[in-house]
Amino acid sequence: MEKQELKNLKAQNLRTFGRRHGKKLSNRKQWLMDNLLPEMAPKAPDLSDESLILEIGFGNGEHLRDLALDNPDKIVIGAEPFANGVAALLSAITNESDNTLLNEYKNIRIWPDDVRLMLQDFNNIKFDEIWVLHPDPWPKARHEKRRLLNHDFLNLLSKFMTKDSHIIIGTDHWEYYDWIVEQLKQTKLSIKSTELDTIKTRYQIKNKAGTTNPKYLILSI
Ligand SMILES: C[S@@+](CC[C@H](N)C(=O)[O-])C[C@H]1O[C@@H](n2cnc3c(N)ncnc32)[C@H](O)[C@@H]1O
Repeated sequence: MEKQELKNLKAQNLRTFGRRHGKKLSNRKQWLMDNLLPEMAPKAPDLSDESLILEIGFGNGEHLRDLALDNPDKIVIGAEPFANGVAALLSAITNESDNTLLNEYKNIRIWPDDVRLMLQDFNNIKFDEIWVLHPDPWPKARHEKRRLLNHDFLNLLSKFMTKDSHIIIGTDHWEYYDWIVEQLKQTKLSIKSTELDTIKTRYQIKNKAGTTNPKYLILSI
């Protein structure tokens, strides 16, 4: 294997996220993680005939819930390795009285891990939309290789798109934004638009005071 290929492979396998666990989960959330989460796994054979939306790194899942409500006829898959975020989503989409899934969220599927591990088992799957809101910016130069939206990953995502599909990226880290635009040159993706109303995810709200507004990229092949 060429030196450069080896370097690329190593970068692809690098962890792109921070913590997997935060503070201890409540009994209800732990119950949901142990009992409901396995039932919500995205299973490739069940998905091939469905219209699909993917959100990568959904945090606590506020935007994923909006996607599910706005698209009742589509399956909305969320990938997030941070257990407390997954548990927060499970708590928000279930009845507090009996822990059953609320009807309006029955179209949600959850992959509680690195999205790249899920995609490696997906064949013949196409997403209408792929959302990545506030990906970890890894601002230190020595961490840059951990950035998820590098050209290899963008090329991987394009394999799951049709000519009508879109990737929607939002970040308030403008240097990361410019870096992604550079990465696009090594893909067949093009920028269709940069216009989108600001989406208020938890991360966006947290960063609002004193920092910059998010910028968006809407990409197609
Ligand atoms: C800065 S947070 C933003 C969370 C949420 N999108 C928001 O705007 O509030 C980035 C999230 O991406 C997740 N993430 C990072 N790498 C990922 C990967 N390879 N697959 C899935 N999620 C990932 C992290 O765990 C983290 O929760």
